[in-house]
Parts: sequence; C-alpha cells; structure tokens
Amino acid sequence: MVSRHCAIVGSTGSGKSNTVAQILKALTTGYYPGIRVVLIDPHGVYFSALKDVSRVFRIDDPENPLYIHFWTLTFDELAWFLVDRKTGTETVQDGNLRGKIFEQKRTMIEKLKAGRPDESAITVDSPIPFSIRETWYHFDRAERVTYEDMARTKEALVEEGDAQSLKSAQFKPPGAGSSPPFKPSGGTGQMLQYVSKIYARLKDRRFDFILSPGGYDGLEKDLHDLLASWVDHDLPVSIFDLSGVPFEVMDMAIGTLVRLLFDYMFWGRNVSGTGRQRPILLIFEEAHAYLPKSGGKFIQGYALRSIQRVFKEGRKYGLGAIVVSQRPSEIDEAVLSQCGTFFAMRLSNSTDQGHVKYVVPDSLAGLLDLIPALRTGEALILGEAVQIPSRVKVMEVSPRPDSSDPEITKCWCNQRLTSVPHELIVTAWRQQKLPEIT
Ligand SMILES: Nc1ncnc2c1ncn2[C@@H]1O[C@H](COP(=O)(O)OP(=O)(O)OP(=O)(O)O)[C@@H](O)[C@H]1O
Ligand SMILES: [Mg+2]
Repeated sequence: MVSRHCAIVGSTGSGKSNTVAQILKALTTGYYPGIRVVLIDPHGVYFSALKDVSRVFRIDDPENPLYIHFWTLTFDELAWFLVDRKTGTETVQDGNLRGKIFEQKRTMIEKLKAGRPDESAITVDSPIPFSIRETWYHFDRAERVTYEDMARTKEALVEEGDAQSLKSAQFKPPGAGSSPPFKPSGGTGQMLQYVSKIYARLKDRRFDFILSPGGYDGLEKDLHDLLASWVDHDLPVSIFDLSGVPFEVMDMAIGTLVRLLFDYMFWGRNVSGTGRQRPILLIFEEAHAYLPKSGGKFIQGYALRSIQRVFKEGRKYGLGAIVVSQRPSEIDEAVLSQCGTFFAMRLSNSTDQGHVKYVVPDSLAGLLDLIPALRTGEALILGEAVQIPSRVKVMEVSPRPDSSDPEITKCWCNQRLTSVPHELIVTAWRQQKLPEIT
C-alpha cells in the first residue's frame, strides 16, 4: 500500500478522514517503532484523533511552529511570492534581485552549520539561509542614496537605517539642477516597485511563517535541523496543519514542503537511518484543493509538480504516498494513475465513478457499480494491498477527527442564543487566527 501508493476517494462525508485516522492508528500501535508518516492536513482536523502519536506543526504554535522558510524556495517561487514575477519572464529588475540573492547565499557558505558546500555547485536556487531584510535594505538604500561630490565617492548620509527593523537609511535630498547633493549617475527609480513590494510582504503578518527566520539563520540552526524537527522527532506522525496558511500561498507552501522532503530522501538515500532505509509515508488530505487538473487562480502548479515527483519517483527513495480526495475527476491523472491501491468510498457523481473505473483493471469494473450505494464508512479496497478486492466497513475512530457532521436536528432544536459573539469571529478572520477555545 505504501510503496505503490494509494488513493482514498469518496464524496464529502463518506468517511475518508475517518479511514485515514484508522489506518494511522493501526500503523502506530507500536508494532513499527521506526515508522515515519507526514500528513498534509489543509483544514487542521486530525490533531484530536491522533493526539498521542503525532506532532502537529501549526503557524504560530509556541512549541512546533510551522515554517516554510523563504530561503528554501526556488528563485522562481520566491520572486513570484515577493514581487509577483511570472515564471519564464526576466526583467532587468529580476536580474538584479537574482544577482543580489545569489551573492548573499554565496557569502553564507563559509559559515553554514551543516557544513561547507562546494562553491561551484551553489546556485540562486540552493536552499541556503540568507537575510531577506538585508536584500530589501540593499535595494532600498540604493534608491535613496545621494552624494556630496560630482564623482560620487562621498555619500550624503544623514542617518544609517536598519535592515532588521525595516528602517530606511536617510540621505540629504538631491539639490536642484546641477547643485549637490547628486543622485547616482545611473539614475534611480528602477527598483522602486520591487522595494515597495518586498516591503509590503515583510510587513504583512500573515506571511511571517515564510519570511521571519525563526532562528534559522544558517549559523545557529540550518536546514538539517528543520528536517530533523519535521521527521525525526519522538513521535511517529507529523501533521502539517495548514489551516492558517493564506489561501493564495497554499500551493507554494505545500509544493515547498513536499519538495524538501523529496530532496531530503533523495540525497539521503545512502545515509543510514534515513532514505530508503527508513521510508516516509506522505498523506495528502483534500488533494483536490491543490492538485487540480486544470489549475486555478492561485495555483501555479508548485504543489502539483512536487507531488507528481513523489508519485512517479518516490518509491526509489523510500517515499510512499496516499492521496485523499472528494473528486477523483478533478485530480491530476498522472497522480491517480500511479496509485496501486484504491479505497473507493461512496461516490455519487458519475464522472467521478468513471474516473475510478478508468484507473482500476477492467476485470473489476463490475464491482464498482456498488460505489454509489456504499454506506458511510464503507469502502471497496482494490489493488496491490489486498489479495482479493474487498468491501469493508471501517470502524469509527474515537476521538473523531474534527470533521464530524453537525447534528442538525439537535442543534436546531436548541433555543436560539441571543448573544453570539460575532465580533470574535470577525477579529479572528481579520487577523487570520482562530480564537482560543474556552
Ligand atoms: N466508519 C464510520 N462509521 C460511522 N460513521 C462514520 C464512519 N466514518 C465516518 N463517519 C461519520 O461520517 C461523518 C464524516 O466523516 P469524515 O469526516 O471521515 O468524512 P470525509 O469523507 O473525510 O468528508 P470530507 O470529504 O468532507 O472531508 C462524520 O460525522 C463521521 O462520524
Ligand atoms: Mg475529510
């Protein structure tokens, strides 16, 4: 089931999350002490069901904060995120940004905690920590600088700024006509737009989980510390609760997370204690949200590319995957067609049923007529993980994932509350952070 990958499909409420929780409970009873599971949980529903066996990474969590560090992004991703650059375009400004980031990464290699990589192998995409605030400061300063003399050797500095607190340096304003102070000879203004875009991103609290270093400066903490904290802690399951990740960067966040894990296993394939010697099972909940066939407004395809790689090549490096979705017809076919095992739960839509039929062997097609009639929690299991195709009833886990159906009649029978704290909801919404449960 793990190395040939697996898909769990079914309409909303058919019991998929329950099945995932049940599988994970079965895998973590202690029988496999070396097991490693990473669960991508876009809505944060699993923490209760897997409390004893999992570590939950969440934005702003005091113990296990979730970071998708900007320096682990490729230049394409980073430039898309910071300045809205489209992949494949390269303006002079992009070239300047690329050059500066490359230079910053290169100066870091002497000091890296994980060890010094060969300089000739470093590119702008290498996952090396650097200070994005310094990058901003560099360009901001260059836009503001003026000189006392015509030869532009002496800066007309009033006060140096500070990169960390995003304080600009101050210079004397340029003189009128050809009187000092002088602007730089090449003129200014070229990077102005990028400077203000980067500044806006740095100021936006919602993106702190990407842009604030959280101690990962390469000296004190480096990439290996990050990976160890993700997949080598004392508990078998790592849950990445992405419920606080802004919608527009979800694709990039998942893409980066999965790519880092893939690269970790790829480069660690011969290292004892990891790689193929200690496989990781990746689970993608609600995959239709970030693996759509047709793309979407906020989907650049970052998640799709990383996840496709796991499904196509992951097996060789000890990565197995389970994809969970309501809409098999909307999921990328390259992913679905690599799944050796199917858990088909109740599916009412005929296009979706068709898609399951399409990817399972013809000899089993008859069985699939059962799919629309399955009860909640029932699944047809087909494929490599089972000797014969089976119709099973999955037990209900307790405690449940935080995705139970609302008890409609019971709730509606209650008296109407007159004092619903609507303002709490709005504040939480504005600051993008769930209120504390009391
Ligand atoms: N095996 C089961 N036996 C009885 N009830 C179940 C079972 N599995 C799920 N349920 C009930 O069905 C409801 C939905 O379950 P679950 O959250 O697992 O659905 P889902 O398929 O993940 O839905 P979604 O696609 O919306 O995430 C829950 O209220 C749960 O209690
Ligand atoms: Mg679910």
